[in-house]
Amino acid sequence: MTPFRTQVVRSIPALRDMVGRWRRNGDCIGLVPTMGALHEGHLSLVRQSKMQCDRTVVSIFVNPTQFNPDEDLDRYPRQEEKDLDTLSSEGADLAFIPVADEIYPDGFCTAVHVDRVTIGMEGTVRVGHFDGVATVVCKLFMQVQPDRAFFGEKDYQQLITVQRMVRDLDMPLTIVPVTTVRESDGLAMSSRNAYLSEDQRRIAAALNRILHETAASIVAGLGIETATAVARQELLDAGFDAVDYVECRADADLAIIESLNRPARLLATVRLGAIRLLDNIQIG
Ligand code: PAF
Repeated sequence: MTPFRTQVVRSIPALRDMVGRWRRNGDCIGLVPTMGALHEGHLSLVRQSKMQCDRTVVSIFVNPTQFNPDEDLDRYPRQEEKDLDTLSSEGADLAFIPVADEIYPDGFCTAVHVDRVTIGMEGTVRVGHFDGVATVVCKLFMQVQPDRAFFGEKDYQQLITVQRMVRDLDMPLTIVPVTTVRESDGLAMSSRNAYLSEDQRRIAAALNRILHETAASIVAGLGIETATAVARQELLDAGFDAVDYVECRADADLAIIESLNRPARLLATVRLGAIRLLDNIQIG
């Protein structure tokens, strides 16, 4: 028996043709948007989609508009053949792998801007990042027209931004959040973990540990401002080169909170050399 192969389409008409046929058949369509370099975190999104939908489309597109000029766009890991083998063994039906011109043709000049939930944290460190994310995700939704789209909680501000966009623009689909997949020492899976040296990899595990300790202190009554300042120092002491932010925000909409008067989320981003590591956990 020939092993299952995920079909590949590279153009929007070919994508629409394939998905249109499924839709006419009454199939529920799941979309997993990715930038490739697939790891267990992505696979958990694909598995959720397979469980909840009849057809699963995975997009692989390293989106240039969400990178700033000083970021790692050129160095971002690209491994199409390996990704396609992985998707085939997971049983993903279709991989949409467009070239940049297919997504941003000559003369492209439209952007989707989501306000408020993009202010602060990644929105401050990576100016314009969420415009790039919202624009490409909006386009992918228009192209695939999925019933459900699956996003990891690891990029929590991205997840909330996409949820907000879908609600605000009445997009007819459901965003499904998926729990972060972690290494055995707690490090959240990320395509960028591949860049860590052995020493950096050891230090990296402290991020999740310190987030848990900080959450426990906040639950025990330590003020948010004090607890996050202590966490910053502990992260530096653990060997991280810099701390971009440690913040405690409302879980539902990332509003700034001064006390634990509703479900909250502790979010942090640190740097090891040129590598940025993000993590977040729920509190309460
Ligand atoms: O999370 C990612 O990999 C990207 O931001 C996404 C959602 C695929 C948009 O380019």
